[in-house]
Amino acid sequence: NRAPVTVTVTGAGGQIGYALLFRIASGQLLGADTPVRLSLLEIPQGLRAAEGTALELIDGAFPLLDSVDVTDDASAAFDGTNVALLVGARPRGAGMERADLLEANAAIFGPQGRAINEGAASDVRVLVVGNPANTNALIASSHAPDIPAERFTAMTRLDHNRAVAQLALEVDAPVTAVDGVIVWGNHSASQYPDVSHATVDGRAATELVSERWLEEVFVPKVARRGAEIIEVRGASSAASAASAAIDHVHDWVHGTGERWTSAGVSTSGVNAAAAAGYGVPEGLVCSLPVRSVDGEWIVVPGLEERADSRAHIAASVAELVEEREAVRALGLLPG
Ligand code: NAI
Repeated sequence: NRAPVTVTVTGAGGQIGYALLFRIASGQLLGADTPVRLSLLEIPQGLRAAEGTALELIDGAFPLLDSVDVTDDASAAFDGTNVALLVGARPRGAGMERADLLEANAAIFGPQGRAINEGAASDVRVLVVGNPANTNALIASSHAPDIPAERFTAMTRLDHNRAVAQLALEVDAPVTAVDGVIVWGNHSASQYPDVSHATVDGRAATELVSERWLEEVFVPKVARRGAEIIEVRGASSAASAASAAIDHVHDWVHGTGERWTSAGVSTSGVNAAAAAGYGVPEGLVCSLPVRSVDGEWIVVPGLEERADSRAHIAASVAELVEEREAVRALGLLPG
């Protein structure tokens, strides 16, 4: 066994936290040879729930679980952290405008970014799950000037997994037969799930499904799946979100090989040129087709996009730019 890896989970007392922590403790995040030290961050109102979860983690007697700490102090929670899963966020309250939502979350993700900058291990990887995930990741990153922007990512893997699953269901194939799906843009209803490069058992997906199904069923189904889950389950997606977070970090650490997936990644630095090729400007956290190579997310460059796909991508990117400008106008985006 290797030295323990410190994994920090914020919002640990919430429903995604409850679905996520046991899978991390069992080794599904980092692999069966890597012990984990769990660090749980909550706000005071959530501490008891997180402490209860910590008791249950102990009761799991997980061979790979080195320790569990619970705190409401961000500096303590991110001290020495190698993997930070930022799940806790401020939900949209009744009558809250979008600017209020962005501002309330900037008050969370700015200080957390600063605490990561000050205390995290030099190899830290950050995944933001809490919404609005892309812009929260951008805010956290902008408060962590000493950490390369590409270490801050936002989760669109749930959208990606939903797209893979819906395509597999429609063509009656196993999910493992599906490759090359992309989710572009923002983790919001404006996202664009795209199968134009996808294959099922090596056959072009666009030859297996109709244009009409893609436009009228597939795209809205994937983009609005979160609302459907709330309606049917009576609560928002939790276990599937936790599962996607596991997939994202697992692939980031272990690599994807030749296959690609989707992740919200920084369009500054190594991925700026490839992102620009899809019309995505620098300085955003945008969902793009990515491979994980040597521990880094690399945007798959140069895919040909049809004019209508381009328009969908551009609309979601415009929303990301708007969110960034709204946050900047509030003075919440240093640098
Ligand atoms: P939840 O409400 O059950 O739990 C959130 C927890 O975060 C609460 O216990 C709360 O006390 C805690 N929290 C709030 N502010 C915090 C802070 N500053 N520091 C530490 N903890 C804090 O919510 P749930 O269902 O676990 O969802 C969490 C977030 O994930 C939400 O923002 C949700 O919209 C988002 N989400 C994102 C998805 C994605 O695909 N990117 C998918 C599903 C959910």
